[in-house]
Amino acid sequence: MLRRIIRPARRLPLWLILTVAGPFIFEVVVHQWHFSVPRPASELDAPFFTSCQEPDVSAKRENAALVMLARNNELEKANRTVTSIEQQFNRWFNYPYVFLNDEQWDPSFIEVLNKTSRGLATFDVVPRAQWTFPEGVDINAAKQNIKEQGERGIPHAGEEGYHHMCRFYSGKFYQLDVLKKYKWYWRLEPDVDFTCAITYDPFVQMARHKKVYGFTIALWEVGKSCPGLYRSIADWKEMMGIPTTSLWKATVSASWMPYPFRRFMSWLPNRDAYGDEWSLCHYWSNFEIADMDFFRTKAYQDLFDYLDKKGGFYFERWGDAAVHSLAIALLADPRKIHHFEDFGYRHALLYQCPANAPGGQLPESEILGSGTWAAEEDNGIGCRCECPGPSPRNFGSYCLNKLKQPTTAKRPRFASFL
Ligand SMILES: *[C@@H]1O[C@H](CO)[C@@H](O)[C@H](O)[C@H]1NC(C)=O
Ligand SMILES: *[C@@H]1O[C@H](CO)[C@@H](O)[C@H](O)[C@H]1NC(C)=O
Repeated sequence: MLRRIIRPARRLPLWLILTVAGPFIFEVVVHQWHFSVPRPASELDAPFFTSCQEPDVSAKRENAALVMLARNNELEKANRTVTSIEQQFNRWFNYPYVFLNDEQWDPSFIEVLNKTSRGLATFDVVPRAQWTFPEGVDINAAKQNIKEQGERGIPHAGEEGYHHMCRFYSGKFYQLDVLKKYKWYWRLEPDVDFTCAITYDPFVQMARHKKVYGFTIALWEVGKSCPGLYRSIADWKEMMGIPTTSLWKATVSASWMPYPFRRFMSWLPNRDAYGDEWSLCHYWSNFEIADMDFFRTKAYQDLFDYLDKKGGFYFERWGDAAVHSLAIALLADPRKIHHFEDFGYRHALLYQCPANAPGGQLPESEILGSGTWAAEEDNGIGCRCECPGPSPRNFGSYCLNKLKQPTTAKRPRFASFL
């Protein structure tokens, strides 16, 4: 009986299927092709160095600061980070530190960290006005919403302070009095290890190579933390007529749904008005070496003000990592982004750590001194690295490859463990 009912639906002739579906298939293929990013013919973002250097301690420094936002109860973790960067880098280069807190500093924090940081250390408090809800936000509604985000299990989204922090790092921190005098910053976070020696001045190299933004780890954003962010930025791009960079294309996972149905997908999270999706790949902003003048441009500040008015820093949990990454993809020349793939960096559970460069460890160097480090390996680019895992992590990730594609010819040799 059942067979009878099904049987009469005879197979449709192939020509009919192709005639109806063909244009849709063709359209989807063209659509995918539109978002593909061809590999450049040559390496556009090589590491600045691929072995240890004799630190050039007499070279002119850039106008730069090491910046850390910390809380009083993060004393040990902050001390760990500073101990690490002093040992691996700053004992040769002596850059100043700026410590930021949203509350008054404990004298004990200042005492310990001032001693651990051999460079000049400044301890500053973020002005209240930059660590609160912006004008025009219904504070009670925002607080209620933050509570609900927490209950939905979105990481950190239930903490009001975390929202203020994301907003602060997205838009206002470059304008603090204490940072105004600097052009470059290296963002530090409590609980970080630098696991290779950094024997050259990354600020000088960034300036020399005309870079504006440097990163170590790229990974996926938690999509439900910021479902409306990508749409907002993509809408802004369109409103302002900002041309599409290859890096912007690389952030898109083009939809396989044919036109015009694709447009209905725009209602889903992390999509633009045309139904294409953000890949969620972004630079992990707890490490950044960047030119603050990029963030101080009118183009960036206008974008931030627009995002701020959208309310997503509170009614969703827009992270500064995602905001910075999408803004970079939107507004920066992709050649101005640098992957510090020669740096060993660990924060929380994630790390990137290269293998050591063959013959590149300068064991006799007086200024570097003696020490221990992991074995050298073919294709290694690290300097005196000691990785926290059992072996150096030498495999790339889709997410990183996607973001590196516009700037690199080769597959990245080292990546985070994601
Ligand atoms: C801070 O780090 C230094 C090493 O750089 C160490 O001697 C000191 O005991 C640490 N202090 C605290 C409170 O962790
Ligand atoms: C840090 O220590 C130096 C010298 O040890 C001292 O002159 C300076 O005032 C201290 N800074 C702070 C902020 O306490």
